[in-house]
Amino acid sequence: MIGRAEANTIRAMRSRIAVLASGGGSNLQALLDHFDRLGDSRGGDVVVVASDRKAAGALERATQRGIPVSLLATTQRPVGDALGEVLERHEADLIVLAGYLRLVPPEVIRAFEGRVINVHPALLPAFGGPGMYGQHVHRAVIASGARVSGVTAHFVDDVYDRGRIIAQWPVPVFAGDDEHSLAARVLRVEHLVYPRVVDAVAAGRTTFHNCAGAAELSVSDVRPAFTLLPHEDSRLAENIDLALGC
Ligand code: GRF
Repeated sequence: MIGRAEANTIRAMRSRIAVLASGGGSNLQALLDHFDRLGDSRGGDVVVVASDRKAAGALERATQRGIPVSLLATTQRPVGDALGEVLERHEADLIVLAGYLRLVPPEVIRAFEGRVINVHPALLPAFGGPGMYGQHVHRAVIASGARVSGVTAHFVDDVYDRGRIIAQWPVPVFAGDDEHSLAARVLRVEHLVYPRVVDAVAAGRTTFHNCAGAAELSVSDVRPAFTLLPHEDSRLAENIDLALGC
């Protein structure tokens, strides 16, 4: 059993996470649920949820959990909080984008280098970039004829969807898929992959440094979710059967 002082130190070492979301917030929910499951061994705490959209379901989910929320100022709606001030007020040290549709200002990216992460519903660097969000991504994947899509978790830099990739997981595209069926299949995997990546970065198990142009990714804790093969071969066989329509 650990003593009170040690417990306080572990708590103090946890990252203070600001989640930015524009939509329903199912990835936020998956993260909160994952942290609940991890209990005291979680790598971080969500200390604020901020959105550019008043109606974002993510704000509602946060409020229900007693997590402070913030409505951000945007060019279209200048009345609202400035992101930098929100991060400072809540002493955030990790920014987790979960369906956030705006570019994070370059000054924030600079101040949080290696401490901003995002999840994208396709296998980057394909099907990313400006305008590639939500159903647009899945429609483009289907239109291309690709048989495999997936989930990418990556560090964020000042170009949309271009930061260093942390983890990817493939998701099959079936004949007859439309953007809704594919989105649902991909989202289910996002909910498994992203919370684990957030926890790894929050706990310092996965770090990214870009010193003097030499970018270095260090992953000291590679979990099964980061590899292409599922744990049990029977599940892989099941996936292959599904893909081949057996
Ligand atoms: C997810 O598909 C995520 O990959 C993308 O936006 C969607 C957000 O969904 N960036 P939710 O708001 O977490 O439900």
